[in-house]
Amino acid sequence: MLLNPVAYFAGYIERETGIIYEGNNDYQLKMRLEEICRTENISSIDELAKLFQSSNVSLSLKQKLLDTSTNNETLFFRDPKCFTSLEKFLVDLLVYVDLPEIRVWSAASSTGQEALSVAMILDDLFAKGKIPNFSILATDISDKAIKKSKSGLYTEFETSRGLSPERKAKYFTKEGDQWKVNSLLHSKIKFSYNNLIRSSVYDTFHIILLRNVLIYQKVEMKKMVIENLSKQLENQGALVLGAGETLVGINDNLHVELVDGVSFYKKNIMVKKNIA
Ligand SMILES: C[S@@+](CC[C@H](N)C(=O)[O-])C[C@H]1O[C@@H](n2cnc3c(N)ncnc32)[C@H](O)[C@@H]1O
Repeated sequence: MLLNPVAYFAGYIERETGIIYEGNNDYQLKMRLEEICRTENISSIDELAKLFQSSNVSLSLKQKLLDTSTNNETLFFRDPKCFTSLEKFLVDLLVYVDLPEIRVWSAASSTGQEALSVAMILDDLFAKGKIPNFSILATDISDKAIKKSKSGLYTEFETSRGLSPERKAKYFTKEGDQWKVNSLLHSKIKFSYNNLIRSSVYDTFHIILLRNVLIYQKVEMKKMVIENLSKQLENQGALVLGAGETLVGINDNLHVELVDGVSFYKKNIMVKKNIA
């Protein structure tokens, strides 16, 4: 019998995801583990820990643990200023740099609302001829969240959070008691599993959104993730964090450009293109 099976899982989750459960969060983790035991017919957290320590633990149970130990809270146009500033940042960037395509990565996309919000902004700019074509990659460590993103289905409540009636009417249609994203917009986004601390994404991007995920990580993990992601920024591209998040004490190599109070972390200071 393990002395403290909850502490065993806190260590396991930290190694697998970087997320730290400590202090008051222990109780939250215990509740989540009890929930897994109930749904999986496992008698106790201790039994669950034994299973994880044996070679018999299934991939689906491991994934279930990751799904339940992550906080997937999100909404459409979360921190709306971020999206208006993103629009300005991209339009300004195109004054200086010719881009055949804009590539965006929502690197902890949860159930897809962040990537869809960007897609709506870019779709509008594209229709107005202000930007070239675009593609979005949306990844998350939670398989359950990625499955939901791929379905493109959102509840009445989810579509009431952050989505204007105009955008809802333009991009969603009612399907049963849910709302389905229009397939053209949905097809601009590729959704897939990715763990940021063992990332298997190697492409480069003009915008990387890393919002509301590092808050749950240890400083060393934040440093490693930012260091890796900064290598995946295109020359004039930028990394965007959540409102209230900062790279102070995490990374000194990226330069901040403020757009209406929102920080865009860039590898390079802007070099103007030659307008002859
Ligand atoms: C609070 S949500 C934020 C979603 C969205 N970025 C937003 O701001 O609304 C945090 C997400 O980070 C994901 N996450 C946590 N650790 C991760 C890791 N190591 N790799 C990839 N995603 C991770 C969680 O599964 C969760 O969906």
